[in-house]
Amino acid sequence: MVKERIEALRRDLERHNYRYYVENNPEISDFEFDRLMRELQDLEKAHPEFDDPNSPTRRVGSDLTSEFQTVRHRFPMLSLGNTYSLDELREFIARIEREEGEVEYVCELKFDGTAISLTYRNGMLERAVTRGDGEQGDDVTANVRTIRTVPLQLQGTDWPSLFEIRGEVLMPYASFDKINREREEMGEQPFANPRNAAAGTLKQQASSVVARRGLDCTLYQLAGEEVQEWSHQESLNAARRWGFKVSEYARLCCSWEDIVQFITEWDERRATLPFPTDGVVIKVNDAAVRRRLGFTAKAPKWAVAYKFKAEQALTRLNEITFQVGRTGAITPVANLEPVQLAGTTVKRATLHNAEQIAQLDIREGDMVYVEKGGEIIPKITGVELKERKADSEPFHYIEVCPECGTPLVRYEGEAKHYCPNQSGCRVQIIGRILHFIRRKAMDIEGLGEETVELLHANGLVHNIADLYDLQALQLAPLPRLGEKSAENIIRSIRHSKQVPFQRVLFGLGIRFVGETTARQLADHFHSLDRLRAASREELLETEEVGEKIADSILEYFADAENLKILERLNHAGLCFEAEQRQRVSESLAGKSFVVSGKFSISRDELKQLIETHGGRNVAAVSGSVDYLVAGEKMGPEKRKKAEKLGVKMLSEEEFMALIADTPTNDHAKQMELRQENHMNEVAPIQGTLF
Ligand code: IVH
Repeated sequence: MVKERIEALRRDLERHNYRYYVENNPEISDFEFDRLMRELQDLEKAHPEFDDPNSPTRRVGSDLTSEFQTVRHRFPMLSLGNTYSLDELREFIARIEREEGEVEYVCELKFDGTAISLTYRNGMLERAVTRGDGEQGDDVTANVRTIRTVPLQLQGTDWPSLFEIRGEVLMPYASFDKINREREEMGEQPFANPRNAAAGTLKQQASSVVARRGLDCTLYQLAGEEVQEWSHQESLNAARRWGFKVSEYARLCCSWEDIVQFITEWDERRATLPFPTDGVVIKVNDAAVRRRLGFTAKAPKWAVAYKFKAEQALTRLNEITFQVGRTGAITPVANLEPVQLAGTTVKRATLHNAEQIAQLDIREGDMVYVEKGGEIIPKITGVELKERKADSEPFHYIEVCPECGTPLVRYEGEAKHYCPNQSGCRVQIIGRILHFIRRKAMDIEGLGEETVELLHANGLVHNIADLYDLQALQLAPLPRLGEKSAENIIRSIRHSKQVPFQRVLFGLGIRFVGETTARQLADHFHSLDRLRAASREELLETEEVGEKIADSILEYFADAENLKILERLNHAGLCFEAEQRQRVSESLAGKSFVVSGKFSISRDELKQLIETHGGRNVAAVSGSVDYLVAGEKMGPEKRKKAEKLGVKMLSEEEFMALIADTPTNDHAKQMELRQENHMNEVAPIQGTLF
């Protein structure tokens, strides 16, 4: 009885949800909806035995934080060829028609969000995975469940018992503006664009936060062995029948003229859409034609994206101001008369550096063209000279730091000016501390920008090491703090001593050492001592470390002030050593390997295998390397070099045979290791990919 009621409520709420969010056409009032929801919540609470992760009550998300599991896609998530030119598009169509004669196309909008793959089993959402690198992505199911337009249970009955559906998670402009307003108010960095906001939100740890962010999801592709060989239009219709949100703007086009018409129309109209788009995707409609055309290694040959040129706006440049970053880098900022551009209001744009200002002869008071590229903050692309006032004067770049008055310097090969007063310039000091306490670095909570400024103003912190000398008694009397927050801050600082080495390294804020580089350096050198002792050549051996990064690291360790700070951090008990990966065997001890090309497992996994068997990974082939593990599509240069230097080459199978001989290398151990590394692989199923 109760079970039936629960099931009926779930079904009804899902249907109302669909009518409200997908169809925009509710049957019942919000009040009635809330009443049904409350009834379901109460019943579920009283009867936990009928729990179901796909219940509509779960759409509000939870505060449990989730570590995302890496999952291998059953079918790789490919990318799309793209072009900005109608001539190239014409060529693409002509090539298809040379092989296939006249064919039908479906033109769709290219949604500017982040790709997602949803798996449904027996009509229920089972899993949602991000694109990742196309081979494997993150399992973000808990977060995707909160997106109201994603059905948790499908409608109808003619869906395959197991299939995937792919599409795009989007952030509508309205949600984007709201979130960024909130972020700015809280002193957080706003998202650069709705795409980053959507991707960032999906990777949020607490799904309750995701639930409040107003994400949307539009789907456009079916995959699975039981999926019928439908035309693209038929698949879209089926998906719509099953309750998915499918773009209402897809159109069947039977000629080149139709395609151009669709593109021209949407290049104008997209400005009126409530969500971001960056082009049109043209897909062959017929399944048999698609099958014959097939794929390249990266993308289908039956589809292509035509990308719109970035939107431009003309507005007045009121003033040029300057920001000082934590590394002392000076960034000129254009303060603009607010203008609508690609769905959002633009008030500021970056001017990059002095040279750019001089080259474009940008002056305060000019009318300037502002453009939003694929990425980030808008930029100024030109000046409308016709509108320039007669009395306008060339802009003079600043010569001293706007914060501390120190004369600016320029480093060789660098376009930016820098304030060299690292330990005395207030903004740099605060910037470095804020960077250090970031979530991705030491994750110290309770210390926002204002509090750090307060601590600095009261003479309590001058550098990151000072944080570890703070005491609750010193903090409590400060304005807006009090005993409780003071204690929380101190606890969080103490907690940060557990943060692993790679994040400490990132937190130090060495110029050009971002999160990835820090991880690679930690993997390569294992400890701060070894990193500090590394020569330029040794640094350059690290993956993705080029001359710029190597020099910056050397410069960092050459500074006595930095060494003093490191000494104090070490003394405070921060993690200055990487955790050793668990060894499975010593069969590769003393041997060094270069891994290159594509393998049946990812390159990182292969490298991990090398390390867990005692071997060492190096980036480049040299005379001292023992083996080159050569995968598919390995660069010919590497092969030539290895042949010349007599480095032994191994295929993937030969490498596996090398480690398979070791007595400790039993299957169970391998599996254990995989689990530890959060690898969760699903056996691929064969099937059609539309
Ligand atoms: S079809 C085999 N259709 O664009 C790949 N993709 O640049 C099939 N995208 O990764 C993709 N809107 O994330 C397709 N209507 C649309 C799309 C679309 C946006 C994204 C998708 C893909 C990327 C490729």
